[in-house]
Amino acid sequence: MKVSSGNRGDAVRSDCYIELWDEGGVTNQVFLKSKVKALYGKSIETLCLEMLEFFELQGVSVNIEDSGALPFVIAARLEAAIKQFNSIEKSFLFEKLPENDYPIAPNRLRRSRLYVPGNNPKMMINAGIYGSDAVILDLEDAVHPAKKAEAAILVRNALCQVNFYSAERMVRINQVPEGLNDLEYIVPFGVHTIVIPKCESPDDILFVEQRIRKITGKAGAVHLIPIIESALGVENAFEIAVSSENIVAMAIGLEDYTADIGAQRTEAGNESFFARSRVINAARAVGIQPLDSVFSGFEDVEALSKTAQNAKALGFEGLGCIHPGQIKIVNESFSPSEKEIEKAKKIVFAFFQAEKEGKGVVAVDSKMVDAPVVKRAQKTIENAIVFGLLNQNWMESYGNELG
Ligand code: COA
Ligand code: MG
Repeated sequence: MKVSSGNRGDAVRSDCYIELWDEGGVTNQVFLKSKVKALYGKSIETLCLEMLEFFELQGVSVNIEDSGALPFVIAARLEAAIKQFNSIEKSFLFEKLPENDYPIAPNRLRRSRLYVPGNNPKMMINAGIYGSDAVILDLEDAVHPAKKAEAAILVRNALCQVNFYSAERMVRINQVPEGLNDLEYIVPFGVHTIVIPKCESPDDILFVEQRIRKITGKAGAVHLIPIIESALGVENAFEIAVSSENIVAMAIGLEDYTADIGAQRTEAGNESFFARSRVINAARAVGIQPLDSVFSGFEDVEALSKTAQNAKALGFEGLGCIHPGQIKIVNESFSPSEKEIEKAKKIVFAFFQAEKEGKGVVAVDSKMVDAPVVKRAQKTIENAIVFGLLNQNWMESYGNELG
């Protein structure tokens, strides 16, 4: 029997294609075709032979067509081939990078989240350098059904070995119940947040949490973000949002949603206005972040900017990205503008002064300012401080400025 895994071809980079077959006898053999054979041939061969021994194989031959794969990629491809060849439970694990050992607060910024196909090592390796708030390694729609098993192993190894800088490490599993089996590949390996697609009822969350508890032995080990992508999901949005304390945000997925209600997705977005508002309202009612869908036209910068502005105006705190070129625009769109910050400063300061004089309401620029307006302005100020756009002690200097 001959099995294979990985990718080959002119366009393939940082990956490899592996064939494995039974040759008989007791020795294992590795045949390598690589441009970097002179430099790394020996170490690639050693890694492969070590793995074959680890998986207790004998008399096996391995053919590798290498396109510049890192060791964690070669190991993932070989493990995937071995697991097709033999049903073995063991896993060949890499150490976790100490650089990736940073916590993610539940309410941290999630303006931009970059989707990266879970079977594409080249895109994974650089995913953290573009400055998105989160990176989503995708095991669902961005992976061909025939490649799901090898993607899970690759994502596991990437979580351990790729430096994601300060991005939140998210993985989108497959739809529950199939997606529950993805969890063992990601939960123990430093994932911050699990994205649950096509979420339709609180049971989906419950099953994910049960499986996580089985894996880690405790509750609350990871954050969760359900994606609402169907008519039923929209109807149940609040019940889903409130179903677990580990849910930190809720997203909407408009491609699937519009298909589900039998509408076309348009730029104006009238067809999804109700669903988006419903998701925002449900999320806000529970105190979690509402996140908008992805914007797929990655070359249309103007439309992206408009979409992000509209999303922010509706109440969303972030937008999904599929291409690194989208990140800067999305981050900027969801950060407070200079004008917003100036206005917020005025309001908070005026209210602070009014409070000192024992007043509950005050006028700023001939508009009434009361508690809810102040609350919003305070949120803008908080964000501006987080983004480094405002100093923690701004009020003091502002007061001095006004004299
Ligand atoms: N994550 C990380 N890197 C990405 C990326 C992504 N989502 N999309 C593109 N890149 C990289 C490319 O690898 C390329 O890198 P290089 O300059 O080092 O060679 C660079 O950004 C420019 O890419 P470009 O040539 O413009 O695009 P492409 O043709 O390689 O890819 C897509 C276009 C749409 C196929 C790709 O962006 C993609 O797969 N996006 C994610 C899709 C997805 O996950 N969908 C499911 C969720 S909705
Ligand atoms: Mg989808």
